[in-house]
Amino acid sequence: MMPQKIVILTGAGISAESGLGTFRAEGGLWAEHRIEDVATPEGFARNPQLVMDFYNARRAQAAAASPNAGHEALARLEAGFSGEVILITQNVDDLHEKAGSQRVMHMHGALTGALCGACEHRWPAPDRMSPGDSCPQCNAPAARPDIVWFGEMPYDMDEIFDHLSGADLFVSIGTSGNVYPAAGFVAEARRHGAQTIEFNLEPSEVGSQFDDIRLGPATRTLPDWVAEVLGS
Ligand code: OAD
Repeated sequence: MMPQKIVILTGAGISAESGLGTFRAEGGLWAEHRIEDVATPEGFARNPQLVMDFYNARRAQAAAASPNAGHEALARLEAGFSGEVILITQNVDDLHEKAGSQRVMHMHGALTGALCGACEHRWPAPDRMSPGDSCPQCNAPAARPDIVWFGEMPYDMDEIFDHLSGADLFVSIGTSGNVYPAAGFVAEARRHGAQTIEFNLEPSEVGSQFDDIRLGPATRTLPDWVAEVLGS
C-alpha cells in the first residue's frame, strides 16, 4: 500500500556529509565539549561566553555548509509526493531549508535564531552573539541562542505527536536514538500502526524497533529511497 502520510525525523547524520560533525561519533562534538558546559541552562549561567563562542562557531560552520544529496532527496520528496510529508529535525543547522524543504520543524531549535531568556521573544540571530546582548522587544540583557538545551522542553511536541499518530510511514535518518523524546517517536508511530524505516550507517539504539533498516551513507541511500517512493 502506498503511504499517504510520511513523517520523517532527521539527526546529525544527515548533515555529516556536508561537513558538519555529529555529536556522538569518535572525535564528535560531545568528545570535545562537555554537554553540561555548552548545552544546559546551568552551563550558560556559569559561563555564557563559552556557550556563545560554541554556538557562534557552529553558526559560522553551518552558514558555510551546503546541503548534500540526502537533504536534496527529502526536498524532492516533499515537492513530488501526492500525500503529506512532515519533516521534523533535531538539527540546528538550516541545510534542509537550503535544499528547498518548505516545512521543517526544528524541535531542538535553530542556530539562525536568538531567544530572549526573559520574555521569550525570538528574532534572527546575528552572526555573532555576545553575553548580555539585549532583547529587541523587552530590552533585557538576556539574549541566548534559540537552542533547546538538555533539561528544556523540545519545541512543537503536541503537533509532532499528532503527526506521529496519523503517520502511515515513519522514517528516521541519521540519529543515534540516544536522546528522548525523539528516540521514542518510532515506538509512538508503531503504536498507531505506522510502518517504520531507519536510515543510518549502523543500527541505532532503537534500531530493533524498525520494520526495515537501510544501512549506508544518507547521500546514497536517500536518493534511492525517494526515487522508489516517487515511482521514478
Ligand atoms: P548523534 O551524533 O548522536 O548520532 C548521529 C547518527 O548519525 C549516528 O547514529 C551515526 O551512525 C549516523 N550517521 C553518521 N553519518 C551518517 C551518514 N553519512 N549517513 C547516515 N547516518 C549517519 O546525533 P543525533 O542523534 O542527531 O541535541 O543527536 C541527537 C541530539 O543529541 C542532538 O539534536 C543534540 C545532541 O545532544 C541537543 O543539542 C539538544
